[in-house]
Amino acid sequence: MAQIPPYKICFVPKSKEEEEEDEKIYKRYSEIAAATLPTTEGWTGKPMYQYQGFWYNSGLHGIGPLAVQDHFKARPSDILLASIPKSGTTWLKSLAFAVINRKSNPPSAQQQHPLHIFNSHDLVPGLEWLLYNNNLNALSGSRIVYICRNTKDTLVSWWHFNNKMRSNISLDAMELEEALHWFCKGMSSFGPFWEHVLGYWKASLERPQNVLFLKYDEMVVEPVLHLKKIAEFMGCSFSPIEEKEGLVDEIIKLCSFENLSNLAVNKTEKNASGLPNSSFFRQGKVGDSSNYLSPEMLEQLDRITEQKFHGSGLKL
Ligand code: A3P
Repeated sequence: MAQIPPYKICFVPKSKEEEEEDEKIYKRYSEIAAATLPTTEGWTGKPMYQYQGFWYNSGLHGIGPLAVQDHFKARPSDILLASIPKSGTTWLKSLAFAVINRKSNPPSAQQQHPLHIFNSHDLVPGLEWLLYNNNLNALSGSRIVYICRNTKDTLVSWWHFNNKMRSNISLDAMELEEALHWFCKGMSSFGPFWEHVLGYWKASLERPQNVLFLKYDEMVVEPVLHLKKIAEFMGCSFSPIEEKEGLVDEIIKLCSFENLSNLAVNKTEKNASGLPNSSFFRQGKVGDSSNYLSPEMLEQLDRITEQKFHGSGLKL
């Protein structure tokens, strides 16, 4: 394997003892969830739990958000990336990682860039999988970059993803009608979709210095503008020299769907949580859902989205 220069990682590595301690904490929360929370059968045949109005997958780490809520203390310098699944998380993680590490790991480094060797979910792990437990308790001041995507493409992407997961464990594919039914009832992972998006939207209006609200669909159309916005928000704006040298375009190219989805690491390997990296890449297009959803389904989703977002100023 090529030698890669050191890069900033997004978590404090833990000792074996600390990891074992975390596992015990996760196990305790899983047991509490199983015993006390409303449950339904999830999209991959395992239970989902409802906690504080949102649905979480079961399994040791699926219920991680409960543990994180009790144990995670953000520091003012922390930057968190947030999303509901299938909104462009993999892309945002790649962009944020490439921006933060551009000095030590220039995007032009190709085979020596960490994104050529690891999937972005391994470079920027999910908080719910990695119990982040430190003793600093200044919550205010930390920043969140949130990404969302139009309702219809999110649903169709999620349906495809879940059917891949189902086929991995020999379950029949779920019909799109059924997926739509549960999605509209709010019973998809981390759903209800609309409340998830609205929560971050409102927070971004109230505290724009703390929450950057991004739309996948707009990022696809204007990646340069958005990448600059992300860098500025994270406190590492591109300098005029960097812009002149083409760094913004290089990062966009490095993190493009075409580049990342064709890398060997993303075609053949699995990430740390055991999912094939390829499952995070499908089409990477805006509007693909109209190839799957009937006019009635499209209309139903548009109607709900309009009702839910009414008066909020948000349009997806
Ligand atoms: P599609 O299923 O519509 O293709 P998440 O990362 O939140 O799980 O979202 C997955 C969606 O983002 C998938 O959408 C996937 O193809 C798309 N995606 C993954 N990497 C991308 C990239 N680098 N640029 C644009 N879209 C990307």
